[in-house]
Amino acid sequence: MSHDTYPSTADRATALHMHSSGLPQSREAAHLKAEPACASHPLTRLRDALDAAFEQSADAADPSQCAAFALAVRAALAEAAADPALLAPAQHGGAADAYRRHLLAADPHGRYAIAALVWMPGQASPVHAHQTWCGYVVLKGALAESLYDWDDAQQCARETRTHPRASGAVSFVRAGRGAIHRLGNASGSPAISLHIYGVAGARIGTHVNDLLQVADMLDRIAEQAIG
Ligand SMILES: [Fe+2]
Repeated sequence: MSHDTYPSTADRATALHMHSSGLPQSREAAHLKAEPACASHPLTRLRDALDAAFEQSADAADPSQCAAFALAVRAALAEAAADPALLAPAQHGGAADAYRRHLLAADPHGRYAIAALVWMPGQASPVHAHQTWCGYVVLKGALAESLYDWDDAQQCARETRTHPRASGAVSFVRAGRGAIHRLGNASGSPAISLHIYGVAGARIGTHVNDLLQVADMLDRIAEQAIG
């Protein structure tokens, strides 16, 4: 999502998806700190696994379309989540007004970025599809994931169902409006999830989410106009 010309995705995120409090949806943590150099660190092993997944699908124009690539990313997420040393203490920190994103690592070739998202109770993402492949695993606490279908005629997303996502739950989706969702923390305790996006680190805030209008929002606007 850089949309250096109007409107940028970041701008649209701010404009379209505010909490009722009027506060923005996400907070960026400080810039990427030095990444762990130790070969046994779980983040290093995660990067090694992702590099191997790309190598395995090197002949594909789009590795994310390969079933083996998806399986490898899912397995890498699950393995990383099983290691409590994955996150430094500071990377457990949330923000009061919106979920907080900590950039953990960025591929020097720009193929992926890894982030931890910290969700305080009641915080949620906007409804979105993705401009790139992405995967996540719940590290701590519990999230709820609402899924949507894309209504091409009405140009909006329609909610179909919501699933609880407990600690350890893993997901992988490809780019496009065939996979629309909203993640949030409906519990009373903080939650943390680990995400991998198929973008360079510098683009994580602008080239991942494809923010969408939602049917019930449009219906409410129409009802207000009629009433
Ligand atoms: Fe997403």
